[in-house]
Amino acid sequence: MPPRVLVVGVSGPSSSGKSTLTRLMRDVLPRATTTPPRRALILYEDDFYKPEVDIPVVDGVQDWDCPEAIDYAGLRAAVAHVRACGTVSAAVEEQSKEDRNELGKPPLETAAARALATRILGDGAGAVLEETLVCLVDGFLLFNDPELVKLLDVKLLLRAPYAKLKQRREARNGYATIEGFWVDPPGYFDDIVWPGYVRAHRDLFVGGDMDGPLAPAAVDAGIQVPPELDMTMAGLLEWALAAVIAALA
Ligand SMILES: Nc1ncnc2c1ncn2[C@@H]1O[C@H](COP(=O)(O)OP(=O)(O)O)[C@@H](O)[C@H]1O
Ligand SMILES: [Mg+2]
Repeated sequence: MPPRVLVVGVSGPSSSGKSTLTRLMRDVLPRATTTPPRRALILYEDDFYKPEVDIPVVDGVQDWDCPEAIDYAGLRAAVAHVRACGTVSAAVEEQSKEDRNELGKPPLETAAARALATRILGDGAGAVLEETLVCLVDGFLLFNDPELVKLLDVKLLLRAPYAKLKQRREARNGYATIEGFWVDPPGYFDDIVWPGYVRAHRDLFVGGDMDGPLAPAAVDAGIQVPPELDMTMAGLLEWALAAVIAALA
């Protein structure tokens, strides 16, 4: 019998902390008491890019930051497989290149994350979690495909101030892709990444203000944003774990 599976979408703009947060959550969530016990799984939307020839080109530059660049059917099938079987399919595991993407020194040590989780999960929530396999879906465009949204039990949208996102993105060396290694050309954050994020998400916010409150329709859809725009990683972890616990209640 596959265990109960809780699918948690962790979305947000580039460099908002999705991959750092999902890896910390995987490390601190209790193992599901299957045989053998299983820790939380991560599916990476970045592993479901279309082949490079199908990435849209805007003014001569590839746009990897729009929904048209993503193979949503493939990602949905991967989520469905986890739900049905309690494991990541061998094919997805094999094609994943996300392990080659180093995140650098995390802004929160694993030991501190564990202590925080022990505090939050201590009062019985940990026991419920042991009967549940958490599947984290890490992706910058999770809420643009209505069929994918239906598969997510928890929908978290990370945010951070524009200037911080830009600074973090520009500090990155680049990204492992299916075909090789991508390095941003000059101006890529302002020309492509940020406008792409705004275009795909402005309807989720009142008046299209990316730093403002969620629009009622987004709240109704179950999307949650952190309590503040500028959060520490500890703050994000605490908020995300509380959302997971709330979903199990
Ligand atoms: N809340 C935060 N506080 C401090 N640093 C952060 C925070 N979120 C992300 N970072 C840093 O920003 C960089 C990008 O984070 P990452 O998790 O790779 O973002 P994403 O997966 O959303 O693109 C990493 O170096 C990470 O340590
Ligand atoms: Mg990432």
